[in-house]
Amino acid sequence: MKTKTNTPKVDFNDEDSNTSNNPTFDSVLQTRLSRRGMLKGGTLTLGSVLFGVGGLAACGSSSDDDDDSPETPPTSPSETLLDFTAVPKSLADAVIVPSGYTAQVLYALGDPLSAGVLAYRNDGTDIDFENRAGDHHDGMEWFGLGADNRPSASSTDRGLLAVNHEATTNESFSSFFLHQDGGTNTLPRPAAEVDKEVAIHGISVVEIQKTGNSWATMSESSFNFRLTALSEIEIAGPARGNPLLVTKYSPDATRTRGTLNNCGTGKSPWGTFLTGEENWYGYFTRDSADDAARGNDKSVTSLLRYGRSQGAGSRHGWESAGADDRYARWNISQSGTSADGSDDYRNEMNGQGYIVEIDPYDRSRKAKKRTALGRFAHESAAFRKAVAGQPIVVYMGDDARGEYIYKWVSAANWDPADADAISRMSAGDKYLDNGKLYAAKFSEDGTGSWLELSLQNPVVSSSATYPFADQADVAINARLAADAAGATKMDRPEWCGVNPANGEVYFALTNNTSRRIDPTGSQYAPDAANPRVYTDMKNGTAQMGNPNGHILRVRESSATGSGDQFDWDVYLFGAQADADAGTINLSNLTDDQDFSSPDGLVFSEATGLCWFQTDDGAYTDVTNCMMLAARPGQVGDGEKKSLNYTKADGSALTVDTYVGQPPAAEQLKRFLVGPVGCEITGFCETPDGKAIFVNIQHPGENTSQADIANPSKYTSQWPSNFGYGAGVRPRSATIVITKDDGGRIGT
Ligand code: FEO
Ligand code: CA
Ligand code: CA
Ligand code: CA
Repeated sequence: MKTKTNTPKVDFNDEDSNTSNNPTFDSVLQTRLSRRGMLKGGTLTLGSVLFGVGGLAACGSSSDDDDDSPETPPTSPSETLLDFTAVPKSLADAVIVPSGYTAQVLYALGDPLSAGVLAYRNDGTDIDFENRAGDHHDGMEWFGLGADNRPSASSTDRGLLAVNHEATTNESFSSFFLHQDGGTNTLPRPAAEVDKEVAIHGISVVEIQKTGNSWATMSESSFNFRLTALSEIEIAGPARGNPLLVTKYSPDATRTRGTLNNCGTGKSPWGTFLTGEENWYGYFTRDSADDAARGNDKSVTSLLRYGRSQGAGSRHGWESAGADDRYARWNISQSGTSADGSDDYRNEMNGQGYIVEIDPYDRSRKAKKRTALGRFAHESAAFRKAVAGQPIVVYMGDDARGEYIYKWVSAANWDPADADAISRMSAGDKYLDNGKLYAAKFSEDGTGSWLELSLQNPVVSSSATYPFADQADVAINARLAADAAGATKMDRPEWCGVNPANGEVYFALTNNTSRRIDPTGSQYAPDAANPRVYTDMKNGTAQMGNPNGHILRVRESSATGSGDQFDWDVYLFGAQADADAGTINLSNLTDDQDFSSPDGLVFSEATGLCWFQTDDGAYTDVTNCMMLAARPGQVGDGEKKSLNYTKADGSALTVDTYVGQPPAAEQLKRFLVGPVGCEITGFCETPDGKAIFVNIQHPGENTSQADIANPSKYTSQWPSNFGYGAGVRPRSATIVITKDDGGRIGT
C-alpha cells in the first residue's frame, strides 16, 4: 500500500476545470428588454434590539403593505409578509431568529434512526452510522404523511424529512470529529474510520411529528432509512447499459454503488425526492501514469473536464483502506486487462454526478440515477409548476467556477393522475428518462437562449474536442457538450427556484474569485450576466473577482417554459452595505439586507416568499452565514447599468448589465444568522407555512484537528450550547422554526 501525505486544506466547493474556449458573453445586440414599472416603496420603523441565545427580542414593526405587486400570493387579512424586525449580522455561536419566533434543534448528526441504536455519545466512539443521521445536512424536502400511513398533501403535523448529507468536516484526510482521537491523516486509512466516513455520506429519510408546539423525530419509525456512499443504485435513462458505465461491480452497466456529496434537492410533482450529486470527483484517486494506461483515449479528456487529472489524490483516502472491492473502487485508474473495463474501476466515476430519484415513502424501491438530466456538479432540481398536457420542466445548476445553468424538458406531457401514482418511481421513468437537456446562453441585450445538448445539435455532434458516441455520452459528458454548444460560463451556479407566482426562475450564483478585467489562464472576463469584477477586503486581505456573488433570474418566452428563448436580469447583487453603490452594491442593500455568497434558494409554496441562504467565506469577518426572506418583483423591474473598467493596456471595457429594482426595506430582510463556521442550507416547510425546516451545516468547521482533545478550542460548540445532545463536538443539524403566535413563517 502506498503512503503519501495529503495536500493542505482545500475547498472542495471550489473546483475549476472548465478549460473550454467558450465566450463568456454573446456579442449579438438585439432588442432591448422592455422595463416594467417600479414596485412601490415603503417605510419601516425599527425600535431597540436585544440579543439572546437562540432568539432575538425586538420591538414589533409595522410596514406599508399596500402591495401593488400582482406576483405576491394573497395573504390572510391579519398578516403582513416580512412583518418582522430584521436580524442583525452576528458573530455569536448561536442561531438567531427574529423576535416572536422560536428555533428548535430537531435532527443532528448521529441521531438514531432505528430501534436498538444507542443515543449519540458525540465523543468519536459512536458506530452504526448506517442507522443514524449522516453528516453535513444540506438540501431537504418535506413529504406529508397521513394517519393511514399514506402520502398526504395536507398533513401539517406528521411527515418525512428527506435530508442530504453532503460531506464531513475534514482538515486533511480524516473526518476528525467522527473519530475519538481525530483519526488518521496518513495513508493507508484504517478501514474502521473509512467505514464510518462512507456511511455518514448520502441521504436520510426520517419521520417527524408535532406534539403540541414541539417537533420530534420518530427514531424507531419503519419509514426511516439511509442511503450511503455504498448503497446500490440503479442507472436509469440513456446511460443505462452504456459501455461508459461498465465496471467490475456491474459489467452490464445497470447499477452502481452510492450517492455522494448530495447538495441541493428537488421534489417531483409525483411525490419523489431528488438529490443532486455535487463534488463527487474529489473522492476518487488516479495513478500518476493513468493517461498512458488508458492509451490517452477520449476518457482522459472527460476525466480532465471533470476534475480528475492523473495523479490526483482523493479527499479522504478511502481507496487505501484495504483490498476489498468497496475500497478499491475509489481508485479509478485503469488496472485491468479487459477491453471493456469489466475487471477494474476505470469507469467508476461515470456512476456519480447525477440527479438521483428516491421514493421517500418506500425504502424497498431502488433509487435511480436519472442520467438524462446530465452529469455535472449538481445542485438543486427546481420543477416548474406541472400543467396538464404540458412537458415537465426542471432547472439545474453546475457549481464550479465557469460552469453552466441547465434545463430539462420531458418528452411526456404531464398527466395529473400521476400526482397520486402508486408506483412513483415509474412516474419518474416516464418524465425523467426521455426528453431534452439544454444549457443556457446569456446575451448582453438581456435575452438568452437554451442550447440543446444532443447529437441533433450540429455543434455538439461535430465537436472536435470530444467526439460523442451517442446520447448517453452526451449526458455523461454534459459539460463537454455544453462547451461545444457555446453556453455561458457562470459565477458558480448553486440552487435555483421557480417563483410560484409568475414562473420566473431564480439562480443563486455564489461567487467567482476568478473574474478579472484582464483574465489569464483559467480566469474569466466579466460579461453581462456575470458583470462585476471588484476587490473586497477581509481582515486586510484582498478578495478578487466576484467574491460576493449574485442572484440572476430568467423569464421564459414560451408559456410552457419548454421553449428555447428567455429574458433575464440580476435580481440582487451580494455586497456589504457600505460597499460602493456604483460598482459593487448595485442593489443598494442596507445593513438589514446585506449578504455574500448566496447558495440555497427556495420559494415557499405557502407564502410565495423567496428564502435564500449563504455559504460564505468573504463577509465572515463581519457576520456568520445567514438566511434572508424576500418578496421579489419580476424580470425587468429595474434598469440597465453600465459598468466601466480600465484594462491593463489603458483601454476601456464597458459591461452592460440589467439590475433588478433595489429592494425596499419590506421586500428583503435578514431572518436568521447561524453559529460560527456554519453554512445555512436546506429549506422546506409544512404545507400551511407554519413550520419551516432549515439546516445548519458544518458549525465549527475551521477547528484544527490538532485541537480535538481541547474542546475550548473548538470554534463552535453548537448545538450543545443550544441545549441539544451529549458532548460538545459541533454537529450539523436540522432546526425547525415556528412563530410564537402560531402564524405563518416570514409574516
Ligand atoms: Fe454543496 Fe455548491 O454547494
Ligand atoms: Ca469585506
Ligand atoms: Ca450549496
Ligand atoms: Ca456553496
